[in-house]
Amino acid sequence: MTGIGIIGSGAIASVHVESYERYAAECEVKAVCDTFKAKAEDLIAGKALNAAAYDDYKKLLSDPAVEAVSICLPPSTHASVTIDALKAGKHVLVEKPMASSLEECDLMIEAARASGKVLAVVSQNRYKTPVAKLKTMLDEGAIGKVVYASFDSLWWRGQVYYDLWWRGTWAQESGGSFMSHAVHYLDLMHMIFGMPATVSATITNINHDNSECEDLGFVVFNYGDKIVHFTSSLVSHGERQSITVEGEKGSIGVPWTVSACSPLPNGFPKENEEAKAALEHRYREIPDLPAEGHDAQIANFLRAIEGKEPPAVDGLEGRRTMELIVAIYKSSTMGGPVSLPIASTDAFYRKETMIASMPKFHEKKKSVDNFSESKITLGRDLGR
Ligand SMILES: NC(=O)c1ccc[n+]([C@@H]2O[C@H](COP(=O)([O-])OP(=O)(O)OC[C@H]3O[C@@H](n4cnc5c(N)ncnc54)[C@H](O)[C@@H]3O)[C@@H](O)[C@H]2O)c1
Repeated sequence: MTGIGIIGSGAIASVHVESYERYAAECEVKAVCDTFKAKAEDLIAGKALNAAAYDDYKKLLSDPAVEAVSICLPPSTHASVTIDALKAGKHVLVEKPMASSLEECDLMIEAARASGKVLAVVSQNRYKTPVAKLKTMLDEGAIGKVVYASFDSLWWRGQVYYDLWWRGTWAQESGGSFMSHAVHYLDLMHMIFGMPATVSATITNINHDNSECEDLGFVVFNYGDKIVHFTSSLVSHGERQSITVEGEKGSIGVPWTVSACSPLPNGFPKENEEAKAALEHRYREIPDLPAEGHDAQIANFLRAIEGKEPPAVDGLEGRRTMELIVAIYKSSTMGGPVSLPIASTDAFYRKETMIASMPKFHEKKKSVDNFSESKITLGRDLGR
């Protein structure tokens, strides 16, 4: 029975608690922390937990009942709290984004190595049935050689979203739509295709005047043998996250979509019904995931603690997403394509020197400690 500590009792914390509760035979939440202690107490009362409330995460880390922690804090704190937790001998599941910089990621990875404890980064979209089926089919070569893919991370957030004290600042949120939202689909992109050779990006803030950071951006990832086009938006009404992959033999995507063309004598397309039916059949044949989202990732975290399987997204895997984001910020600011990897001598490797190079799109003029509404949405149902 693994004792769990929840650090940070805001919007995402209750999602973690509910997922741990689904595995009550393997774990129990023993402690909850927030600088606003009343939020920790409310979470404990609301979920009827038999847990201690703390106002300081260091007190939670010295609680012997806690063996593993979920870090549900603002991004700027992820690295220092993760490192303190690992040094205290706790396993760590840290919310996305993994950290604020590549340097911080490397310090976290080193702390995990030195402690021998599990470090896992939340990437719950890997555990969505259509995503898992897409990956299986691409690995099987179902559409032949992939030539082009497009990833659309299209969300919408109202202006007041950025009034929360840590949001909309390079120092606290560590970035805009790429760091906060597109981080999910960037993770899926390198899970599916690996890392690109070069990254060319442009970012802007088009409609959120209480944020220093971007709310819209476009990227071309060049893999040499294929191109991935990626859009990150917080100005798109009705959340639409999607992936489309074009191969020589057909096209498949998430939410599930399938198409296949063969050429007429003049090169114009004719629907290839046979190829489409085969792709459709294979998609239906692959079993659904037994659990999805945070539930599935927390199950993986618990099994990793017991040494039964590796964490699906460990520090190195989480760092890859950070490297893509850093390359996007570097390309959009310096102009032109950025080659990967980013060297540790690069100004964009460290948070302070990266921020010094970034534009402040707007001045953050309004800041609130908490919203009256704590409910959030986690991304739409991608179907089956
Ligand atoms: N995986 C997802 O889909 C998903 C969704 C939402 C948020 N998140 C991530 O979860 C993290 C938290 O986001 P949120 O929306 O829950 O934010 P939030 O502001 O609602 O909650 C954060 C909580 O941490 C507390 N806090 C801040 N600094 C602290 C400290 N040093 N010690 C103890 N408590 C402290 C705050 O008082 C607040 O209650 C962010 O990294 C965010 O990107 C992930």
